[in-house]
Amino acid sequence: MTESSKPKASETAEATGTTETAQASETTETTETATSKAPAANAGDAGDATDGAKAEAKAEANADAKAGGAGRPAPSRRALLGWGGAGLALGAAAAGGTAAALRVGSDVSPSASTGDAVPFDGAHQAGISTPVQDRLHFASFDVTTTDRAALVKLLQEWTAAARAMTAGHEVGAGAISANEELPPDDTGEALGLKPSRLTLTFGVGPGLFEKDGKDRFGLKARRPKALVDLPAFPGDNLDAARSGGDLCVQACADDPQVAVHAIRNLARIGMGRVAIRWSQLGFGKTSSTTPDAQTPRNMMGFKDGTRNIAGDDTARLDKHVWVGQKDGPDWMVGGSYLVARRIRMHIETWDRTSLTEQEDVFGRDKSEGAAVGKQREHDEPLLKAMKPDAHVRLAHPDSNNGVTILRRGYSFTDGTDGLGRLDAGLFFIAYQRDVRDGFIPLQTRLSRSDALNEYIQHVGSAVFAVPPGVRDKGDWWGKALFA
Ligand code: HEM
Repeated sequence: MTESSKPKASETAEATGTTETAQASETTETTETATSKAPAANAGDAGDATDGAKAEAKAEANADAKAGGAGRPAPSRRALLGWGGAGLALGAAAAGGTAAALRVGSDVSPSASTGDAVPFDGAHQAGISTPVQDRLHFASFDVTTTDRAALVKLLQEWTAAARAMTAGHEVGAGAISANEELPPDDTGEALGLKPSRLTLTFGVGPGLFEKDGKDRFGLKARRPKALVDLPAFPGDNLDAARSGGDLCVQACADDPQVAVHAIRNLARIGMGRVAIRWSQLGFGKTSSTTPDAQTPRNMMGFKDGTRNIAGDDTARLDKHVWVGQKDGPDWMVGGSYLVARRIRMHIETWDRTSLTEQEDVFGRDKSEGAAVGKQREHDEPLLKAMKPDAHVRLAHPDSNNGVTILRRGYSFTDGTDGLGRLDAGLFFIAYQRDVRDGFIPLQTRLSRSDALNEYIQHVGSAVFAVPPGVRDKGDWWGKALFA
């Protein structure tokens, strides 16, 4: 069992303060709870530009030099403007100097085409409310260095590389470097590919603040109260080798090679300072943040993401996803908390289950995705018309005192398990303002009663604090945390 999955008396589901309603409400009117959050504990003002800015300037110069040459083509002006001038809005807001002001117009405008570049700077990191791309490469890292300065330098280098790659540029001096005696800075497999809406979303896990009782980097006091170790849930069968981690990077793109290239290059830069603990490839997004688009289907054949938070619904994002000023700590304002669960599906059992049973399990029909007794996918569900243990009935905010999360998961198929069964399922990713008011109460309810449990098993788990977005070239991933 991993550290992140160990039950702790103070952090059990009961301790989350969630009062589960006995009966699902018959309306879908959300009764959202006011949550009590920890007061701001730390101030983490951004300082002056440092080595990170220089590294970024170098990367930028190199990238610029490469653009149009042997390297990947620079994104077109149209591609960068595809996001409705988000950068302009941010620039104006940054002048105002507050995180709240920066939130305006950040990463919610849909891209015009799958080849576009998504702006890297923003009040929030891209890859959360951003329209969901088609592919995922998620990586969890252990920090292997004990040197705080080395870790800081890595984060500065990572930020510069992430900025370059999301813009469709090569890392550092590129894949075909001038000095043939040295390995090139970029591994090269993304040469000629478009930016593909690549987003790189960075998070820090509990182990960065304290590991084996040690305050490795002097960060223990800065750990957000909302970054709790997840309790053990009934039915969990977690593999330590696929759980936890000190840092994470979620790479999403419309081209799998672009996402894999990004993680590979970050891992390469990190050699000697971090090591990949586990990683997960995903395909076929199983959620949507763009309700007008066709809802994708999961590996069980059902539409998934119907009632997700829309990427342009700023009121619900502020309420349920982004950490607010009053929540604290300061370095997390504008950020969010990420829960990742590798959920294996017993595909072969599911495939031998009748259609009626399959639809009862979810409380929605398979073809249209409509709730029981309804005609269309987006008709308001009548929860009491569903079986008491139907997944949607149990997961709905009305059954959970208003608990609402943003889902951003992907399907996975990692070959077979040696017993002739597909190792396939859902790599579940949820973002929320506070894990104690999001995933924990929801999963507490689902793990106890969900009809879906007969067909799934949670085999991997991790939780990360995802800081707000990088504001400009003087900023870097985690700068306010290390300030
Ligand atoms: C393999 C595991 C899972 C599968 C196949 C699955 C599938 C689905 C499907 C098909 C829907 C209905 C369409 C929709 O509104 O998106 C749904 C809804 C939902 N699921 Fe899951 N889910 C899984 C695990 C989870 C977990 C672990 C959680 C949270 C702890 C969760 C939370 C939700 C929520 C909040 C809804 C929306 C309920 C509503 O507002 O109507 N799901 N899921």
